[in-house]
Amino acid sequence: MRIEPLLPPSEFVGLDGITHLCTGGESPWLKAQEEVYAEFARHKSAGYAGRAEVYARGERCRERMGQLWGVLPERVALMPSAAEGMSYLARGLDWRTGDNVVTTNLEFPSVAYAWRLLRRQGVEVRMVPHRDWIVSEEDLLSAVDERTRVLAVSHVSFYTGQCLDLARLADGLRGKGALLAVDATHASGVVRVPAALTDLTVSSSYKWMLATHGVAPCYLSARAEAQTEATCFGWHNLDIWPKQGAERTPDADVKPMPQRLEPGNPSMVSVMFLDRALEVLLRIGMERIENHARDLSEQVSAGLERMGRTVISPEFRAGRSGNTCFLADDARGVQDRLAERKVLCWGEYGRVRISTHLYNGTEDVERFLKELAEIA
Ligand SMILES: Cc1ncc(COP(=O)(O)O)c(C=O)c1O
Repeated sequence: MRIEPLLPPSEFVGLDGITHLCTGGESPWLKAQEEVYAEFARHKSAGYAGRAEVYARGERCRERMGQLWGVLPERVALMPSAAEGMSYLARGLDWRTGDNVVTTNLEFPSVAYAWRLLRRQGVEVRMVPHRDWIVSEEDLLSAVDERTRVLAVSHVSFYTGQCLDLARLADGLRGKGALLAVDATHASGVVRVPAALTDLTVSSSYKWMLATHGVAPCYLSARAEAQTEATCFGWHNLDIWPKQGAERTPDADVKPMPQRLEPGNPSMVSVMFLDRALEVLLRIGMERIENHARDLSEQVSAGLERMGRTVISPEFRAGRSGNTCFLADDARGVQDRLAERKVLCWGEYGRVRISTHLYNGTEDVERFLKELAEIA
């Protein structure tokens, strides 16, 4: 089957002659974003009227994030990074000695180590081991007990590309106290993210969501909001204006979601870029994009296996994502030699990651496989 890109590479900056397979690191930039920057510049110079326009764009971005994740927009805050979202739970829950957090031993550092200060307080961090690079939902659930406060995972693994079954995890946690916290950085924009099944879902937006650094949407469930305290305060998340006027008293209430997680202004230019990118993703449709990425992942895996490479991404379709990974002793060398041939991917820590998104097609997969065979 020949797969054509869902969006032509010509709509992106700098893709002429390039096989771009590293969206898992950094996605290419939509040419349409140049207009957004010009628009931001006009609003930025137009005083309060311009500011109102920028804020209106922020609310539209929130709406679109709600649509993308299937949740109410008022439950989505615009945080600065995915790391900040996960840390909100670490800081905001009323932890007690003997509590624990369950995660995996293949996790991205921001998920694995958000809890590091809590160890001083006697909170245990349980890192469930992978089995031959696959993390089993059953193993994760078996590690959860009555003292587990949070099960923290990436929806899609940065290392293997495995897409975890969040419905299975949410089901297994039903009736238990643990919150389900998800980093959807490698999922959001390429596979469907069922944020409503989770207590917290956060994603950076400079990868699969085609935007840039400085904004990470974060969904927080009503249950998680009730169990947590805000730990960072500012003019934006405190209910002081117009109540208090200019003179301060020591008391100030925290606003509910979404402002609760926004103590100051989000990076509004980044929010406007995200808003523009979401328009594109929603227009094409997440189911189509997900199928496209999984079809390409199957082609990448099949080609690698024909070459005798060891693929560590899951073979079953629902476990696939935009990332398909294979073992390589000299992973960095593979990345560098492919880059010399204008094929961009990421190789480090003993494996190479091939990321396929909506501007990729079978032609990119074939070119990658051909160049890989030549450099080997
Ligand atoms: C799973 C995961 N989460 C988060 C990030 C980084 O996000 P941020 O810089 O917004 O914290 C990355 C970047 O590679 C990632 O792979």
